[in-house]
Amino acid sequence: MISLAPFHFLCSLTVLLLLPLHVSSSDPDPLQDFCVADLKAPISVNGFPCKPAAAVTSDDFFFDGFTKEGNTTNIFGWSVTPANVLAFPGLNTLGISMNRVDFAPGGLNPPHSHPRATETGVVIKGKLLVGFVTTSNVFYSKVMTAGQMFVVPRGLVHFQLNVGEGKALLFTAFNSHLPGSAVVPTTLFASSPSIPVEVLTKAFQVDKATIDIIKSKFGS
Ligand code: GLV
Ligand code: MN
Repeated sequence: MISLAPFHFLCSLTVLLLLPLHVSSSDPDPLQDFCVADLKAPISVNGFPCKPAAAVTSDDFFFDGFTKEGNTTNIFGWSVTPANVLAFPGLNTLGISMNRVDFAPGGLNPPHSHPRATETGVVIKGKLLVGFVTTSNVFYSKVMTAGQMFVVPRGLVHFQLNVGEGKALLFTAFNSHLPGSAVVPTTLFASSPSIPVEVLTKAFQVDKATIDIIKSKFGS
């Protein structure tokens, strides 16, 4: 009788080898060369429907939104210019996007996380303290200068602080056409409607007056 053991072993090996691909992938793979997003389509799907191919032009595949410095006059002294599917519909379904991040001296990209993507970044100018915290509450960080690259695993809270003398510039990339961003301070203190104050006083172990002070910084 023929033994099925080698066959079972091969099946198990294949499943084991394929498992990480499913676990680690972000946006699903595209099913065609491109699907330039029709952002105004009346139907709602998981992603965006495609513009008819006949209506697609070269302009759909080029983006010049990164050519200008962002306006960093805000409380954090920073600016993010996203090239995600909403700004650059040619990225639709391709599982990729980028940001241009400008920092005034002392500027901070405040702690935030991307629910749908891992982030990589390359410092182009200046000196940035780049850090993230794992789900085990371990903080990893490094001061980075031009040409250096970092990675922030998907979903983890991270920030960049300009610790140089002048302005700083960073480009980041994501394995999602719409990574999403949950900015910790505004998520907690400037949501609409507001999180009940007893949740915030209990979570941060402070009184309502302290919560009110923090909220007032975000105009809420
Ligand atoms: C940086 O953290 C970015 O999200 O672009
Ligand atoms: Mn980020």
